[in-house]
Amino acid sequence: MLITTNTFIKKLLLCIKFQNKMNFKKQVLVLLAFTLHLTLVAQPLNLIPKPSTVTVQPSLYNTALACNINYHVVNQNIVAAYTNFFKPRATSFNKQLPKTKAPNTLVVTEVNTEVADMYLITMNANIISITGSARALYYALQTLTQIFAQAQDGLVQCYNITDAPRFAYRGMHLDVARHFYTVAEVKKYIDYLAMYKYNTLHWHLTDDQGWRIEIKKYPLLTKIGATRNGTIQGRYPGTGNTNVAYGGYYTQAQIKEVVAYATKKFITIIPEIEMPGHASAAIAAYPLLSCNPDTPTHIPGKYIATASLKTNKKLVQETWGVFPDVFIPTEYTFTFLQNVLDEVMQLFPSKYIHIGGDECPKKAWKESPFCQKLMKQKGLKSEHELQSYFVQRIEKYLNSKRRSIIGWDEILEGGLAPNATVMSWRGEKGGIEAAQQGHQVIMTPSTHVYFDHAQLKEGDSLTIGGYTSVQKVYSYEPVPAMLTLEQAKLVLGAQANVWTEYITNFTKVEYMIFPRMIALSEVLWSSPKQRDWNDFEPRLMTHLTTLQKLGINYCNSMRN
Ligand code: ACM
Repeated sequence: MLITTNTFIKKLLLCIKFQNKMNFKKQVLVLLAFTLHLTLVAQPLNLIPKPSTVTVQPSLYNTALACNINYHVVNQNIVAAYTNFFKPRATSFNKQLPKTKAPNTLVVTEVNTEVADMYLITMNANIISITGSARALYYALQTLTQIFAQAQDGLVQCYNITDAPRFAYRGMHLDVARHFYTVAEVKKYIDYLAMYKYNTLHWHLTDDQGWRIEIKKYPLLTKIGATRNGTIQGRYPGTGNTNVAYGGYYTQAQIKEVVAYATKKFITIIPEIEMPGHASAAIAAYPLLSCNPDTPTHIPGKYIATASLKTNKKLVQETWGVFPDVFIPTEYTFTFLQNVLDEVMQLFPSKYIHIGGDECPKKAWKESPFCQKLMKQKGLKSEHELQSYFVQRIEKYLNSKRRSIIGWDEILEGGLAPNATVMSWRGEKGGIEAAQQGHQVIMTPSTHVYFDHAQLKEGDSLTIGGYTSVQKVYSYEPVPAMLTLEQAKLVLGAQANVWTEYITNFTKVEYMIFPRMIALSEVLWSSPKQRDWNDFEPRLMTHLTTLQKLGINYCNSMRN
């Protein structure tokens, strides 16, 4: 992205020719401008994710001067986002171009394009012109923000940029069940996604250790299911128990607030309601959802909260892992889940609802007379087929409401629901199999994009284990080479998962996602032909400096 020496020399020669006609003062000014120009163009453009094409223009734009913004935009979120960014310097916000050309004009034009996410930026010393769909204009603003951040004495080099993302699905997941983050923190998380042109937040709202979404029809889900009596300390199986009640949930008003916030930043939130496994918190609230409603919850290990030892009831789990008490596929359970999903759909306009489907032990179903009878009635040959029956019933319900399901790759076992999208986490095998069966796929393999893994080989903070360096994330290719072209089109994109067993506060969330989510943003947005670690690393270093300025925590692995 450097101006070529050739171009520069040509310009200098032109200038010298021109100088003969100028007075001394003008000559000095021109030479000064070119010296400054040289300094500026000698700086690489540190954009992440890297745009499709960038051409350097032979002028400088002064970001410090007042400017006019001319909106040809319908989408009010775009008007608000640009107005907010230019507020300190914009002097007027017009619908039409002014008659006389004002210096420093920003022209923002919304278009309905086939290529919905493509934007164009053209810059010269007087005008920045930005064109694209509303969503693309939002991405363009992120690019412009990064360009303006490189200003020196207010001046930035001008560029023409054409840009569009490679993948339609660019996701980050956040588990708020193992540890809970406030509305303000979730909003910050959304800010980070927006900065790097992600478009999806996968919000993991329910699990064994806590139910985090208010459901009006079932108040006990949050009254009982949102709080555990304590939490194990240290890495599983632990060194003790905090013995402190731990809980939290989002009211429906708060969920609406977060969804509205994300919408303004062109981010879709996909809620995840786990089933049929990872159900301990829901079962603690409504024991009839279990195969064994009268059996107290077993908390494995030695470090059980004192309050839990004193009861013989169902409990919200306080340690990590996979637990055998899962939803029983009775009509009671299906009615419960449909009612829950009805409220979820009211809150989340997303096309997709994630229904979990992972890590559901089959022991309780094997031992349940009800489940065995149901399997016989329905001609189901195994408990895997019973899980498939479960998922297909839920899919049918959600499809009838014009929503689609996403499930973890275990939903392949026992037969995939007809319209399901598969999230491949146990490597890429499940994703490959799903695409070969003609299903959509989102890649989230634990080998490359599990951001709960350590980033440092040694001396990292407490994590679940594994080692996933930023370089490894950057090397990830979401489309497996063995897929045909048609199958490859079914890979919608990829997502990093942030499981939070060992992420007890939001500062640590930041530490775990940065800088890895910056690396993944380029994997998801930019052409694989542009992927080059040696080119990326120095750009990333400048982004770490920006994070520092913004007071955002990150792992210092790059600076070691
Ligand atoms: C998962 O990591 N259990 C999807």
